Amino acid sequence: MSFLQKELENRDLPNLLQLQTGEMITGRDDWEQRRIELKEILSREFIGYPPRFETVTDGACLLEDGNAYGGKADMKTIQLTIKSSYSVMSFPFTLVLPKKRKEPPLFLYLSFSAAIADGIGEEIIDHGYAIANIYYQDMAPDYYDGHHNGLGRFASRNSFDSWGKLRMWAWGASRILDYLLFHEEIDAARVAVMGHSRLGKAALVAGAFDERFGLTAANESGAGGAALFRGKTGERIRNLYGEGSRLWFCSNFFQYMEKENQMPFDQHFLTALIAPRNLYIASAKQDLWSDPTSEFLNAIAVNKIYQIYGKQGIETADAYPKAGDVYHKGNIGYHLREGTHDLTRYDWHRIMEYRKLHDI
Ligand code: GCU
Repeated sequence: MSFLQKELENRDLPNLLQLQTGEMITGRDDWEQRRIELKEILSREFIGYPPRFETVTDGACLLEDGNAYGGKADMKTIQLTIKSSYSVMSFPFTLVLPKKRKEPPLFLYLSFSAAIADGIGEEIIDHGYAIANIYYQDMAPDYYDGHHNGLGRFASRNSFDSWGKLRMWAWGASRILDYLLFHEEIDAARVAVMGHSRLGKAALVAGAFDERFGLTAANESGAGGAALFRGKTGERIRNLYGEGSRLWFCSNFFQYMEKENQMPFDQHFLTALIAPRNLYIASAKQDLWSDPTSEFLNAIAVNKIYQIYGKQGIETADAYPKAGDVYHKGNIGYHLREGTHDLTRYDWHRIMEYRKLHDI
């Protein structure tokens, strides 16, 4: 057995390839059945269920600057409105379309601010990508509000499996995509959802549950993101039970506090749902709270799901990565950079390189 396989065995993860009936998965058909089980397990135990009744999404362009970035892009502020039979809410996001490329590939970026792609929007449009920048708190505020605000109003909030904020932000990203695919000329086959930290966690949820995202990029997503809980160092479930982060998950999740080994899932269930589509995991060496090793091992854990589809997951040496290592060849891309918790220009550029290489 290879070194990395041994490291993975030590984590003693729940088996992705065993159906709840106990039968082992042998091919793609069984896997599609398992996929349904994984979605149920994650919804019930981890992030909660999205609205179970119908909602309708519409939008309006409130503001347009046809001369953004020195005339290189068209920038629009779009107000999205989501309605159900008894609730309605609106939030804005910004769309930037490069003029030099028709039907551009898109970055749907879950953002900590309204500044386009953390201020490097111009470099991204120069590479021919469109950006939909959504300030996450406009969808659902990130504080302990009992889910009374924003998207929180669209689903039950009183049960142990009521949706948490990660699911709301991910669900909101899907509603943005509904609108964009219908109203804007973007390349539907090349849509990436991306986020950093808690928004890297949300990006993974979006990519796992919405197959229209051809690439899911999670930067330093850590606990509740790409990092496996079993054997994890740094942040654990007990740390996620703080005032701020408690509502990111459904209540059921916290029954596994200090009992990570008893969880009926681990974070490879989430990334496995992204296969066979492209996945990008980015880590930083000194980001010990996230635990880069546990983020990396997740990629190793889901390789076999890519193989079911005749694809390659991560292509790496049989060793842990060193700072500066970039693994871009497989359907799972990965890099580990020197430094601490942040989404830097370096990270953006590696992810753009990966998109170019895979034409995604
Ligand atoms: C806290 C939290 C992490 C989270 C991070 C962030 O550090 O503990 O889980 O990823 O905030 O979103 O910045």
